[in-house]
Amino acid sequence: MVAVAILAAGKGTRMKSSLPKVLHPVGGCSMVERVLNSVAGLTPSHQLIIVGFGQEKVQQALAHRQGLTFIEQAEQLGTGHAVQQVIPHLEGFDGDLLVLNGDVPLLRPETLAEMLRFHQENGNAATLLTAQFDDPSGYGRVFCDGDQVVTEIIEHRDCTPEQRQNPRINAGVYCFSWPALAQILPHLKADNDQQEYYLTDVVKDLSPVRAIDVADPQEIQGINNRKQLADAFAMLQHRIKDDWMMAGVTLIDPDSITIDTEVEIAPDVVIEPQTHLRGKTAIATGCRIGPGSLIEHSQIGANSTVAFSVISDSTVGENSRVGPYAHLRGNAVIGDKCRIGNFVEIKKATLGNGTNAAHLSYLGDATLGERVNVGAGTITANYDGYQKHHTHLGDRTKTGSNSVLVAPVTIGEDVTIAAGSVVTKDVQSDALVVARSPQKVIPGWRPKQQRPAAE
Ligand code: UD1
Ligand code: CA
Repeated sequence: MVAVAILAAGKGTRMKSSLPKVLHPVGGCSMVERVLNSVAGLTPSHQLIIVGFGQEKVQQALAHRQGLTFIEQAEQLGTGHAVQQVIPHLEGFDGDLLVLNGDVPLLRPETLAEMLRFHQENGNAATLLTAQFDDPSGYGRVFCDGDQVVTEIIEHRDCTPEQRQNPRINAGVYCFSWPALAQILPHLKADNDQQEYYLTDVVKDLSPVRAIDVADPQEIQGINNRKQLADAFAMLQHRIKDDWMMAGVTLIDPDSITIDTEVEIAPDVVIEPQTHLRGKTAIATGCRIGPGSLIEHSQIGANSTVAFSVISDSTVGENSRVGPYAHLRGNAVIGDKCRIGNFVEIKKATLGNGTNAAHLSYLGDATLGERVNVGAGTITANYDGYQKHHTHLGDRTKTGSNSVLVAPVTIGEDVTIAAGSVVTKDVQSDALVVARSPQKVIPGWRPKQQRPAAE
């Protein structure tokens, strides 16, 4: 049995932020949530989150997750003090406790599984992840008797200049036999440069403690400032984009593209430069997305194209074309074989299959049937200053250029709306509606003598 404790009480002073450090997102997901995801595969019996600075915000951000226990560390007196807070919550527990810093967001689940296996097979009292860094400054240094048996961890600031030469660093990822740790945890002392209770001090009193180096040191990069946050994002992007390319997705100029972790992309999708896919977005096979597009929390059906457009919280069907310069948002639902063209904004509107809005339109709070043709410049006037109202357009209806549909309004099927109409009343199927002032022609308006003389 394994329990997990995540240290997330610190302010993260070096972030210079009002947001608790562990809530800063890396690729669409907060650091602490990434840490939780990395342990999910171990099906922990307890998920204990030590919170302190900004704890309401941390709890709120994680409210959608099941099975978390938040433990308050009212004063942040160090990582050892943080783990002391779990003692009352693990009474009678005799399994292993995995302790993770909330600011180490790139850990792979396989790495943790491997560490746990190594811990259990060797009957270690404690196991920690280590790495050899070219620039180990800032990290605690791990001192070993031989290769794997740890004798001591000394924080960078407490090291002598010689000790600082040691490139082996403590990743802040530990596995403890809980009964062994529980015995010595209460006796930590704060006799160090920071006057804090260091979790790392327990290794001196546990035996055996073994360390394993991670295969990919990038995984254990801790985030203490915005520079490291950006570095972590870049590493994550490399990982994600490499995986998608290996899965059959073409990325043209990958360095200019960003893809969040939760995005799903089918094989034979082409992503063009300067395109950003965020949140829970899914792209079906055969799509060409970009260049220059942002798609967030949206689904794009097979064989559709999106160019120079922004799509949020919306759905596009199959074989549809979006853009250039279209904006879909707020639950726009576009059917199959649709065309959404230049400077068209669609909000909270459903478009049936084969419906086109090719130029210069706003369609908001509307339901359009199949094969509707929305003329250039058609606007749904959905807001009266107090409330939003709905517009219905039946199948095969055609709106003329520059028509304004003043909602609430229902237009039947096969209706033709004349260009420039302001439609304020419902229209029955098969009708032609002309709602504009008739053209007046006044002959001879400009008297002959007022014409400019010929040169
Ligand atoms: C810690 C380790 C160091 C290791 C490094 C790896 C100690 C003493 N040092 O140093 O050996 O190389 O991580 O990244 O553990 N936290 C609390 N309560 C506290 C203090 C911290 O919850 O009272 C949390 C922080 O929010 C953070 C984590 O513990 O998520 C680590 O704290 P931090 O201050 O960043 O430790 P480091 O100095 O990086
Ligand atoms: Ca840290």
